[in-house]
Amino acid sequence: MKFAKRLDTVPPYLFVEISRKIAAKKAQGIKVISFGIGDPDIPTPGPVIEQLRATALDSINHRYPETDGLPEFRVAVSDWYKKRFNVVLDSDKEILPLIGAKEGIGHASFCFINPGDIALVPDPGYPVYSVGTWFAGGECHWMPLKEKNAWLPDLDSIPSDVLKKSKVMWLNYPNNPTGAVVDVGYFKEVVEFAKQHSIAILHDACYTEVAYDGYKPISFLEIPGAIDVGIEFHSLSKSYNMTGWRVGVAAGNRDMIDALMVVKSNLDSGIPNAVQYMGIEALKSTDEEIRTRNDIYQSRRDKVIEALEKIGLDVDPPKASLYVWAKIPEGYTSAEFAELILEEADVVVTAGNGYGPSGEGYIRLSLTISEEDLNEGIKRLQELNIPNKN
Ligand SMILES: Cc1ncc(COP(=O)(O)O)c(C=O)c1O
Repeated sequence: MKFAKRLDTVPPYLFVEISRKIAAKKAQGIKVISFGIGDPDIPTPGPVIEQLRATALDSINHRYPETDGLPEFRVAVSDWYKKRFNVVLDSDKEILPLIGAKEGIGHASFCFINPGDIALVPDPGYPVYSVGTWFAGGECHWMPLKEKNAWLPDLDSIPSDVLKKSKVMWLNYPNNPTGAVVDVGYFKEVVEFAKQHSIAILHDACYTEVAYDGYKPISFLEIPGAIDVGIEFHSLSKSYNMTGWRVGVAAGNRDMIDALMVVKSNLDSGIPNAVQYMGIEALKSTDEEIRTRNDIYQSRRDKVIEALEKIGLDVDPPKASLYVWAKIPEGYTSAEFAELILEEADVVVTAGNGYGPSGEGYIRLSLTISEEDLNEGIKRLQELNIPNKN
């Protein structure tokens, strides 16, 4: 059988490889502790599940949903944007529900990228930005995220010949995998830059509701002029512990939302209505409920950082996101170090280079792990003997 060349353009999805390794260990009777994927272990809130139960029984919800979602869900999203970011959006024209943010992010490239076009992609970054670009026949220009630049792309270093062919710039704050956050000043520069070079901004804001120490992440759409140049992706996955239900949204520039709707309406038939009713309920969560959940992650963050520092790793505590991004000891590659931890401690961490070449020298640990496994994982890490390679 002959498959399309585009399948050869992408590396195997990072977590598929990791799952295989865990399965192999399990088959040997070993309990592996995983700090791998960012998939909340905390259940979906009870009232949200209650909505599923109630709306699943109504046969009107057994039929095809609309691609552009239930009007009530879009209104709930626009109300949330107003309450959370003081951003006013037209729920009919500036909001599009997604089958999880990953779906919208993957499809977005089909709206902008012709073969040979360039997408500006953060490195390290969530792999779907580059994969979507390649599937659409485009090329990626990596924008390295460096600690010395506070993990923000250096806009001035993008060569002018690259800019001429660039159609979109992907950004993601709070950031996966580095845990970095962004301020209004940087986003203002991005808006100017986008206007100057006619580049669409695609901001992935999936982690705005997971934050620590009282910090409140911002939306790109808060910036004056942002809606002229970009859209933002949100996910209910991490915000409300709903990864299994598959619901997210794109919000912002109406022409861009229209374009995404053209792609989506030809390829999918929307989110099950019952799941959208769950989304409406989730968006009613109070600040207090979100804070209580984030306190759990914050205490895990602190425990993980303490353990990593004890074994000699250098960590900057993240203000947001579900991840701890740690610099590994000199002399190891990320893959070697992750392999050492897996082989010697039966603990999974993600090698930083899996998120792009600039992730080399780092590992990522996800905080979506039960207290029991977290404590066991930390114990194993602290007992680990890390040979000095220098
Ligand atoms: C940066 C980023 N964007 C998007 C997603 C996907 O979110 P969803 O579950 O809504 O598809 C993830 C999931 O890990 C992510 O880390």
